[in-house]
Amino acid sequence: MCGIVGYIGPKEAFPVIIKGLKRLEYRGYDSAGIALIKDDLMLYKKKGKVADLEESVLGKELQANIGIGHTRWATHGEPSDRNAHPHLSNDGNLTLIHNGIIENYASIKQELSNKGYTFSSDTDTEVLLNFIQDIKLNEKCTLEEALRIALKRIVGAYCILLMDKNDPSTIIAARKGSPLVIGIGKGEHFLASDATPIIEYTKEVVYVNDYEIAIVKADELILKNLGNEKQTPFITKLDMELAAIEKGGYDHFMLKEIHEQPSTIFDCLRGRLLPQIGEIRMSGIDNNLEKLTSAKRIVIVACGTSWHAGLVAEYMFEELCRINVEVEYASEFRYRNPVVNEGDVIIAISQSGETADTLVALESAKEKGAFIFGVVNAVGSSIPRISHAGAYTHAGPEIGVASTKAFTGQLAVLSMMALRIAQAKGTISNERFIHLMKELEAIPEKVQDILKDTTHIQVIAEKYMNATNALFLGRGYNFPIALEGALKLKEISYIHAEGYPAAEMKHGPIALVTEELPVLFVATKDSYYEKIVSNVQEIKARKGMIISVATEGDQIIPSLSNDTMFVPETDEILAPLLSVIPLQLLSYYVGVKKGYNVDMPRNLAKSVTVE
Ligand code: G6P
Repeated sequence: MCGIVGYIGPKEAFPVIIKGLKRLEYRGYDSAGIALIKDDLMLYKKKGKVADLEESVLGKELQANIGIGHTRWATHGEPSDRNAHPHLSNDGNLTLIHNGIIENYASIKQELSNKGYTFSSDTDTEVLLNFIQDIKLNEKCTLEEALRIALKRIVGAYCILLMDKNDPSTIIAARKGSPLVIGIGKGEHFLASDATPIIEYTKEVVYVNDYEIAIVKADELILKNLGNEKQTPFITKLDMELAAIEKGGYDHFMLKEIHEQPSTIFDCLRGRLLPQIGEIRMSGIDNNLEKLTSAKRIVIVACGTSWHAGLVAEYMFEELCRINVEVEYASEFRYRNPVVNEGDVIIAISQSGETADTLVALESAKEKGAFIFGVVNAVGSSIPRISHAGAYTHAGPEIGVASTKAFTGQLAVLSMMALRIAQAKGTISNERFIHLMKELEAIPEKVQDILKDTTHIQVIAEKYMNATNALFLGRGYNFPIALEGALKLKEISYIHAEGYPAAEMKHGPIALVTEELPVLFVATKDSYYEKIVSNVQEIKARKGMIISVATEGDQIIPSLSNDTMFVPETDEILAPLLSVIPLQLLSYYVGVKKGYNVDMPRNLAKSVTVE
């Protein structure tokens, strides 16, 4: 949550920071602000999007070669001008931006209030800033030293950028739990929550680690730990092109990302899935085969859409590998003192690799001796760095807040993992192994088929866009897709939607069925088909409006449905990779037709770095 950008060097800082903030808006977009230093400190903040901030500063003094900017997802204090970052210290010298949460801010605030400090916002960030100022005054130390002392006393997560108006040649940064990347240019440095604001200026970056402080000048970068020992910055080359983070002619990132799926799934499979020679090659698996095949239990931890991918994986791993699998919401897993035994394998699934709940869950499972395997999209993010092994989904940067291509990338990786482990364990016949590999190889083309013409889905979206509720039902491999379809609709179109196992609807949700309730069945041809046909009949008998996702050529489900979206046939294990696509499109078109900002739905953020 919250996007952070900083710049120091010969360029005008303002345009670099504004452009960077726009790229990071997926992280939060309820208010934004910027601080620049030339002869004096210039501070501008505004409730709303980065574009509102940009408009509000037209004609104002903006010239500077050093600055920091922030786009916010509110935690402490409502979205407003005064709660927007950067904040200013009581003495007017220091300014700070922050991504994260200071958990013990209330007691520090009390301490500072007793000393006469006043606060003009409701944020934990302003408390941290004045805490730093207070230490600097009392200890008569440098800003860097004061920050170090403050960080040792605070509890919580942070990525912060700090400037002193009396030192317009330095930005001090620090991280614990929230990401920070520093781009190294020629006589200039860029700081940001991820690499997207940096990519057009330089490909050389340093990913700052937890508990590190960076002292950044135009031509110098010093990294230290909290013990004041210098650390050697590890420079990484970015493997990302500017085009990957632009809309490329589409109206929205979400639509672009939906349409990218044939190529992102292909990229994910490339070099790993080799049906011609009957092999799956994944170094993260191959190098840890013994641990994975001997695991008594796999626990999958994730949040949101990634959790739904975990549910699909549960079905796959249990069926193909005969390993007991549990799928956990990371936030619940972490805090309920779970039983984790040595030898347990924990698979973390995450698009961003930064989700705080998932990260904390992994840290505690790792301490208890579990083997951690990360299935992550964002290269170089925190989860891969704390995992023992992993596999990237290679879907490229996902900017739309609602996850689409990262989800199918996760399914592709998890399918290959299940197949590879099953092969090594001998729990799959060679014939079925080869068959599933071939089916998986054919998926990108089948996704392309679904995307070829979306007119029909647009018509369905128009027809049901004014619904206030919807029910999504599926069985087996399509049950998690029902959940994902409902989540997508909620996120993007603000229609209340529930996902349920189709048979379970008889135990409650069926009471909701009226002529006005759209009931969406994910009912492709699989081993549950006859059963779900009965469930569809049950809704039809109660006059619910039935929309279905069915297999091409199927006659029964369409004949029972008011509207049908077709997908090509595949093995049922891989059906989720296809059946989710019409549901992504349906939510997208409903959201667009209702006039909503589908890339930045209200109250959401893409990277949830607070617990
Ligand atoms: C947020 C996003 C979702 C995402 C979830 C988990 O809620 O809006 O799209 O599924 O976080 O994020 P992760 O990056 O861990 O997959």
